[in-house]
Order: sequence, then structure tokens, then C-alpha cells
Amino acid sequence: MTRQIQLYYKNVTAEAIGPAHGLGTDELPKLNGEIVRITEKMRQDRQDGKLPYRDLPYQDQTCRKINDLTSQLAGKYDNMVVLGIGGSALGNIALQTALNSPIYNLLTERGGPRLFVIDNVDPVQFGSLLEYLDGQLDRTLFNVISKSGRTAETAAAFLTVQEMLKARLPGGQLTDYIIATTDANSGTMREIVNREGFTSLEVPDGVGGRFSVLSDVGLFSAAMCGIDIEQLLAGARDMDQRVKTDRLTKNPAALFAAIQYCYYHKGKRLSVMMPYSYQLKDLCDWFRQIWAESLGKAHDLQGNLVNVGPTPIKALGATDQHSQVQLYREGPNDKVFTFLEVKLFDRDVTIGDAGEVTELAYLSKKKMGNLMNNEKRGTEYALVASQRPCLTIRLAQINAYTVGQFIYLMEVATSYMGELFGINTYDQPAVELGKEATFALMGHEDYRQLLGKIQPTVAIDEDYLV
Ligand code: PA5
Repeated sequence: MTRQIQLYYKNVTAEAIGPAHGLGTDELPKLNGEIVRITEKMRQDRQDGKLPYRDLPYQDQTCRKINDLTSQLAGKYDNMVVLGIGGSALGNIALQTALNSPIYNLLTERGGPRLFVIDNVDPVQFGSLLEYLDGQLDRTLFNVISKSGRTAETAAAFLTVQEMLKARLPGGQLTDYIIATTDANSGTMREIVNREGFTSLEVPDGVGGRFSVLSDVGLFSAAMCGIDIEQLLAGARDMDQRVKTDRLTKNPAALFAAIQYCYYHKGKRLSVMMPYSYQLKDLCDWFRQIWAESLGKAHDLQGNLVNVGPTPIKALGATDQHSQVQLYREGPNDKVFTFLEVKLFDRDVTIGDAGEVTELAYLSKKKMGNLMNNEKRGTEYALVASQRPCLTIRLAQINAYTVGQFIYLMEVATSYMGELFGINTYDQPAVELGKEATFALMGHEDYRQLLGKIQPTVAIDEDYLV
């Protein structure tokens, strides 16, 4: 069984879904020249230090540092709480869901502390967790992750935790309970680290949040919870070798991007990722962010207004067959589907005996994993029958090695897609305005002048309230 994940693309071709919606034999080859150019550009950019995320899988020192820190902390904590948002949380959540038991936090025998990731400012969620942790704070480690340190959601959670620890652990060293992951040199969180003397980890220079899961950002909580981070990076290195070639049909990242790009220009601007595995569902959230935040851009690199960007959508197989598939088959043919399929599940369940219920005999004593995979095939068949393009990413098994490959594959595919669109993949200028408005509404002095502009939009006009 190959340890390499594979991309299957027959069901996007005209041969499979017909000429109206399938890719003709000449369509992908038209992008060959572009892929050769982009591959060379990315090779050069990488060599010039402009794509530091590409080298994260080779940071042996990072791996050793994290493993050493994890060993020092082993056995000291029952709970670990990550405070972060966006790229400073989604990778952590995805790794935990993919590589630890779905009931990890409930197990008495675990690979490490329970893991909670707080990536919101929901007072009910956060308040409930703090209540649960009160009384066991001396056995709880908080890992605050923020490259900037000025992100309101993470800052609010951090300040609350800091105050609670100070109040509950009089004389206790806060430094035993907080580890900060932030920019190596600058930013609000770095200032706090320097002042308070917290142990700190680094968000590498030039690596944006959504490309940082294979750095200290994602690796620390993973290692603390017993995930094999060396295998994760080894899988990413394996994928790196495969995505270096400029031959489109041999390079899964270039091919995934090229197919999505062709369909974008054929009016299929919605990209659905549908894993047939609970373990992979949060990797789809992670993908949603990297695809949306990297590729949704107003301007191209020449400054022209382009307003491009495919919309990533997450659906979970088989659950969302009973929620979304009616739309996917009979609604507008404006989507590309990417299934995630697992050949061999970590464990399997034998379905109960149907006894005399002949209607259910087809399920009797069969394997649930087999049912899951046949649900995927059934849905794919039904979508193809409706001329909907379907890709599949096939994982022989879910383990740190294959998940490392998947992450790196999608990161590099995002880079290819950004290059095809001719945009800056690595910035996110549009998220600033909403952040600044929140600062203003919360009374931040530096943003006070925005209040006048915000009021007409946010003040409730009773004439329109029904
Ligand atoms: O991908 C990104 O750049 C963002 O999603 C950031 O990770 C997110 O906004 C959090 O930023 P910070 O780590 O500075 O708190």
C-alpha cells in the first residue's frame, strides 16, 4: 500500500462527465507553459528566501526544540489550552482531530494533556471552559499563539487567563502556566513575553498564519498531545519532492490548482471539499482558510481591479449527503468537488446482524468503513451522472505522514493558484477594516476617528426593523 497520497482526476474530464462541463483533452495542456513558468518562479523565490513556508519541513532544529520542550513538560499538565484564531488555531485543531482519537479528551490513557483550542470570543464557550479549569489551574498549560499580539480575540482571551491565573495562583509563577508563540522580534506579544519572562516559541519570519501549521505554531500542541511531528514533517518533505516538477500531470499541487483554475474560468467558482472521514473534517476548515484568505483578492500584482477568488465550501461525507447533495446535483452546476477518501481506517466496526429484517440484510455484518467508502462512491457516481466535476484525494491511511503530505500539497496548490491568478497570495488587506472598526467600537483611542463612519451602518434604523 503506497504511503503517498494521490489525486484522482478522471471525473473532471469530458470523457467522464461530458463536454459541456468536463475538461476537454486540450484544456489542461494549455496551462503547461504557465506551470513551467510558475514552477521556476517559485523555485527561484524559494531560493531567494521569499517563500519560507516551503522550507518548514526541513527545520530539524525546530523539531528537536519542540520535542525537548515537550519532554521537559511531560506529566506536568492535565489540560492544555491553545488561545489563537485563524492561522494561529485552525492547524492545531486540524492536527488534533486528524491524528488523535475523536474522544481524546475523555480518555484516561492519553498521549498528553486534554487539548482545548479557543479560537473565538464566545463568552458562553470561554466562560464554561474557565469554570471547568478553575480548581485545576495548577495542572493547566496555556499556549497563546499570536504573531502580532494585537489580535483582539486572542488578546481578550489571554488577558482574561492572565488575570485569572494571577488571582488563583498567588505566589505562583505565571511562567509555569503560559507559553507564548509569537513573532521572534517584534509585536505586542513579543513585548509581553520580554516583560513577563514567558517561555516563547516562534512564528517564523515571513510565514503568515495560514502557512504556519508546520512551524512552532502547530507543532507544539501536536507534540504535547503525542502526535509524531517528525513523521508529519517527513510527509511534507515527501510531498515537496513531488511538487517540484514542472510537468503538470506529475505534480499534484499544480494539477489541483490548474483544474480549479480552469473551472473558475468556466464559471464554477465554488469549490467543495468533502471528506469521507470525521478525522479529516477540520483539515477542511484549515483548507477553507488558506484557499479563501490567500486567493480572494481585489487587485492583481499590476494593480488592476480583478476581484478574484474561488469560494471554498466544506461538506462532511456521509452526513451532508442528507443536507447538501440535493443542491449539489440539481442546483446550479457551479461547483467543483474534491472528495477525501481513506482506504484503510484506523479501526473498523462490524455492523450488527439484521436478523429477520430482510430490508436491512445488505448491511448485516458488513464493515462500517466499507459502507463509508461506498457512500463516497455512490455520491461521486450520482454527481458524475449530473455532470458535476469530481476530484478525489486518496489517503491509504490517516497518519502523521499522510497528513503532512496533505497539508503541504494544499499549501503549494494555493501558491500555484495565486500565481495563476497573478495576485499576492500571502497578504490579507481586506481583513483589516473590520478589525479596525471593532477596535473603534471597543474604544481603542487610535481608531476613534472611524466611529463617525461606522455609525450609519451599525446604528439600528427603526424604519427598517420588522
Ligand atoms: O493567516 C493569517 O494570517 C491570519 O488568519 C492570522 O493567523 C490571524 O489573523 C491571527 O493573527 P495573529 O497570529 O497575529 O493573532
